[in-house]
Order: sequence, then C-alpha cells, then structure tokens
Amino acid sequence: MKQNIVILGTQWGDEGKGKIVDYLSKYSSYVVRFHGGHNAGHTLVVDQKKIVLHLIPSGLLHPNVIGIISNGVVVSISELVKEIEMLKKNNFFIHQRLFISDSASLILPFHIAMDIAREKTLGINAIGTTGRGIGPAYEDKIARRSLRVGDLKNEKKLSLKLEKIVNYYNAQLVSIYKDKSFDYKVILKDLLKFKNIINDMITDTNIILYEAIKNKKMIIFEGAQGSLLDIDHGTYPYVTSSNSTVGGVITGTGVGPKSLDYILGVTKAYSTRVGNGPFPTELFDETDSYLSKEGNEFGSTTGRKRRTGWLDGVALRYSVQLNSLSALCITKLDVLDNLKEIKICIAYQNINTLEFHTSLSCNNLENMKPVYEVYPGWMKKTSGIKKIEDLPKAAKNYIKCIEKIAGIPVDMISTGPDRNDTILVRNLFL
Ligand code: IMP
Repeated sequence: MKQNIVILGTQWGDEGKGKIVDYLSKYSSYVVRFHGGHNAGHTLVVDQKKIVLHLIPSGLLHPNVIGIISNGVVVSISELVKEIEMLKKNNFFIHQRLFISDSASLILPFHIAMDIAREKTLGINAIGTTGRGIGPAYEDKIARRSLRVGDLKNEKKLSLKLEKIVNYYNAQLVSIYKDKSFDYKVILKDLLKFKNIINDMITDTNIILYEAIKNKKMIIFEGAQGSLLDIDHGTYPYVTSSNSTVGGVITGTGVGPKSLDYILGVTKAYSTRVGNGPFPTELFDETDSYLSKEGNEFGSTTGRKRRTGWLDGVALRYSVQLNSLSALCITKLDVLDNLKEIKICIAYQNINTLEFHTSLSCNNLENMKPVYEVYPGWMKKTSGIKKIEDLPKAAKNYIKCIEKIAGIPVDMISTGPDRNDTILVRNLFL
C-alpha cells in the first residue's frame, strides 16, 4: 500500500497533473500543494463540468479530502478567496477542509506589478512569466523580508511590515520602471477583509502532516509546473522561481524524505511549453497545428498558445533521475490518435557527440539537435479507453518504448480529460 504519493510533472508543466491528482485523491485523506502559487492552472472535468484551480489543491473536489497549502507555496489571498467563492458557486464546499500554512509567504499587488514591469523591460529576452508575481514573492522570501500568512493574525505588526515593504517596492517601481506607486493602507484594508474569510484556515500545517503520517493516513503531494521549470534543475533562467522537483516536497512541507513512498512522474505523450526558453523537440509545422488543436494547448492560467513538440526522451531520463521517479503516468495519449507516425527524441546530437543522458540545467541546448526514432501511429480512437488490453497494438508499443527510454514502468495512462478516462496499468494500492 502506497501511503504517501508525490505527483510531479516531468516536462515544462501542463502535463495534466490536476486530473491525475483528482483521480488518485478518491483514495487519499490529504492533498498538499507544496510550491509555486497561482501561476499553476489545474484543469479538472467532473461530471462534464470544467473546473480550473490555480491555488487550491485539486484533490479537494472529493468531499472527504483535506487540502493543505503548505509553507513552500506563495499565496495570493485575494486569488485564494476568489477560488473558494468559485468552488462554492459550483457546489464544492471546503469549510474546515482547507488549511494554509502560517509560514507561507504572501503574494501582494506590488509583486505582480514588479513581475510585469521587469518582463516589459526585458523585451525579447523576457522569461515569459505568467505575470502573477511569483518571482518577486520568492525573492522576498529568500531576502527574509516576506510578509507571511501568519502575519495576517497581528494587525499592528502586519501594518508596520507592509508599510516598510511598500516603500521598498515603490522606490523601484517609480524611479526605475516609471510605474505607479502603491498605498500600503489600501493593501492593508483588502488583506484584513480577506483575512476574515480565511482566518480559521491559517495554522501550522507541519503538525497536521506529522499527525497524518503518524496515523497512516494517505497523503498526495501535488506538484505544480514541471521538473524542467525547476529553479535549480530546469532550463535556467527560463524557469519558475520554486523547486518543482521532488526536493520541493521536503522543504515546502516539512515532511522528511523517508515518508515519501511513491513518486509518480506525469508525462504528456508529446511535449509542450509556454513562455520562452529552449525546447529541443519543438515543432513549427502542421504537426504543431494538429497538436495545438487536438490537445487544446492553450494555457489555463494565461490563455497563451503553448509551443508543442515531440516527446523528449533525454529530458524524460533527466526528470526520472532528478526525482527518483517510481513510475510514469502518460497523459493525453488520445491526442496522438490521428497521426500516421509519431517521433520520440532518444538522444541529442551535440557537435561531435551523441548525448543520451544530459542535464538540461546549464547545457547549451541551442547547439543540441534531437535524434528521433519514428513509430507508426495507431490511427484509431483511444479516447475514453479504460483498460490497457483495449489499446491498439501500436499505442501499446509506444508506451513500451517510453518505458524503455525512461527505465521505469508506466503505471497509469490518461485517454481523455474526464476523471474516468484513465487506465490504471498497475494497482498502486496493493
Ligand atoms: P512564473 O512562474 O510566472 O514566474 O513563470 C516562469 C516560467 O514558468 C514561464 O515560462 C511560465 O510560462 C512558466 N510557468 C509557470 N507556471 C506554469 C504552469 O503552471 N504551467 C506551465 N508553465 C508555467
């Protein structure tokens, strides 16, 4: 029995982790968001209704699950309240089922202004951030000047800290970026209003998780973004500002590594990337248009068109290694249903060498050309298939090839956006 499961993206995000977290949550007691913020966009389809969550753990759509936003997350209280209201409207009630770490850092309006102002100044060298203030909020955390969720409980302290940090940001926004300044009193008023809504949720989430592990409750740790966007191991500087690899679970929750039983890497059957930065298997031809359209590859947070490409086996091996992955879950297999042939990158051609194993963090990826193996497509509908035996032979072959490249088994396959369009290849719960 796998008690504690980590679910991570192996690519540049948007692998469909939200659906997988939601699917596995029916077996679990807790679901934890441990890093990132409302830059994430987890799309779920429940009873044909589409729900997009940015901050609230995806598993919370199951009524018996308790959701945790732990210390590693950067929290925009206004976005959180918006999401709580949206769920209420859709008849999902989270009262006494969502807890937020008092140690999580806050994202405040000036972080968003700074993120946007910096991206504008960078011009063609922009990172292509989601404009949600993620980078500046994590900078404040590391610089030890963050306002944290726990600060909301002490109005006087909050006011003093807020005035100081607003002065710090105003100086830069006005003089360097010729932007408008913020009035800390306006931000304070909003914070106090939102705090009243979430007051009961603010707590020491370390203790909740410690007790849960002691009592052998099943916990899912829900990754956001993907391993190749990790601040340390991703395609720097075109990355997000948190650790989206497995290390982020440890620092972002206070749970030790020995408590993690199973680490599932979610991999789209092809590749996508939003924002700028290297993408060795990127496509610019009619297959790009096909994947965009069939896969509905538009960002769920920003609506931007995602860049598309073939599955990158070198990057996949790197993610397996970075995260000690136990197994893979392949998503969006059905998107490939109408392709005559499917390619997988098995190595990078460097100037004089073939690279099968390489770090994508500091390599000069622009000089690497993908080397492909070509597989026949299946040209049959797989969408909605629920058993591995029912997949076309060529699709099974494609899955086997991914297993061989990654060196780990494929335990799950997703064949459509609905919760039920899922193949459990191996019973994870034995
Ligand atoms: P930031 O996280 O908003 O600072 O953006 C940094 C990079 O990560 C940009 O390329 C974003 O497009 C990308 N990014 C951030 N969150 C996600 C996500 O949830 N899915 C895919 N890409 C993301």
